[in-house]
Amino acid sequence: MSKICVIGTGYVGLVTGACFADFGHQVTCVDSNPERLDQLRRLHMPFYEPGMEELVAKNVRQGRLSFTGDLGRAVRETDFVFIAVGTPQGRSGATDLGFVFTVAKQIAPHLTGYKVIVQKSTVPPGTGRKLAELVRQHLKRGSKARFDVVSNPEFLREGAAVDTFMHTDRIVIGADSQKALKAVAGLYRPLYLIETPMVLTNLETSELIKYAANNALATKISFINEMSRVCEAIGPHVDVNVVAKAVGLDKRIGSKFLHAGPGFGGSCFPKDCASLLHFSKQFGAPTPLTGAVMKVNRDQRRFVYDKILAGLGSPRGKTVALLGLAFKPNTDDLRESVGMDFGRWLLRAGIKVKAYDPIAMPGAQQELPGLTYCPDAYTAARGADVLVVVTEWNQFRELDLGKLKRIMRRPAIVDCRNIYDPRTVREIGFRYQGVGRGEA
Ligand code: UDX
Repeated sequence: MSKICVIGTGYVGLVTGACFADFGHQVTCVDSNPERLDQLRRLHMPFYEPGMEELVAKNVRQGRLSFTGDLGRAVRETDFVFIAVGTPQGRSGATDLGFVFTVAKQIAPHLTGYKVIVQKSTVPPGTGRKLAELVRQHLKRGSKARFDVVSNPEFLREGAAVDTFMHTDRIVIGADSQKALKAVAGLYRPLYLIETPMVLTNLETSELIKYAANNALATKISFINEMSRVCEAIGPHVDVNVVAKAVGLDKRIGSKFLHAGPGFGGSCFPKDCASLLHFSKQFGAPTPLTGAVMKVNRDQRRFVYDKILAGLGSPRGKTVALLGLAFKPNTDDLRESVGMDFGRWLLRAGIKVKAYDPIAMPGAQQELPGLTYCPDAYTAARGADVLVVVTEWNQFRELDLGKLKRIMRRPAIVDCRNIYDPRTVREIGFRYQGVGRGEA
């Protein structure tokens, strides 16, 4: 059992803290926001994530997980200090490291004996070294404290965060000190026992790995989205889903992250691509491929949006039903969400928008009050001129299409995620448009 404190109770911090507690470690989660702490102590999760509430409740009950605003005490009483605060995108595209560096300065005066500081949130290569320097500068005068800084990027996926933490494909740990590397690797012992591969390396390599991994995934998505446009251009009988299936069967390529759609969103891919583009240039090794991936992604959002407009004719008096506002299923995260962009653009075009999302509506209502929020998919579809499936929540896969046809003003579907069988939908009498599946 190790004593760990995790600073920042956002996605990465809370999942990391709860999962480490579940491994048997003693974990204190630190946050500067008293409301958030109060919420967490009452076992109210700050975001929707399947399995989180149960995991947190269990570990709090069993005395391995607690929440505090007292950073100094948490640091003094633990051996591992995980930094998991936000690293948002600055205006230039560069990562804003303000929160990380503020926390580094706050930690420093409380260091005693030997501690391992672990950088968990995504940061550009070189940050760990700067962090170490900053901590050194802010140690108490005459302090004998020793510490090492370790990079340990997190690869969890929202909507499946607990599962991706517990069954990750690999653990990446980077540090200059062998002692620190071994100590952090030891925290993951339960995963080591199920033979999870570990990549032990130095700080900068570890920091870069996270960007390389996310950019590789984003590249796959933009690649298949680009192919979807080629499919449509060739003719109505060409289907990107079949292309993706066959391409993905090549083990060197793999079938995952080859789903054509309206482009990627969320809190990671857009921000990490922008950051890589920015810091690679600063290092003197520009990454034009990343720039192209981002451009294809932006264009794809418009390309799919235009399908909605194309089917509508004149926007006057028209109503669009939007299904799905979260950037992907099983989350209430609206960051860089396609559904929210479509909502905004449609309103701007003077079109009425009826929207439904199983989880993300409270947040959406605050951000975009102009949409008409509905209690279910059918209410959203009633009287609509086109139904747009933006996020592939499971419940949208099995909608009663006959009923939808009866209640809509015009039977038209834009299937942004290719979740329906075009022939079946058309046979029922819908005008159907998928992505990269032609118009026939
Ligand atoms: C991603 C990475 O998967 C994770 O490893 C990293 O730690 C954080 O970023 P996340 O942003 O939670 O995780 O979601 P993910 O499931 O990867 O999807 C990202 C976006 O890509 C979503 O908008 C999704 O709809 C889109 N996507 C994904 C596609 O359009 N096609 C695909 O084939 C896969």
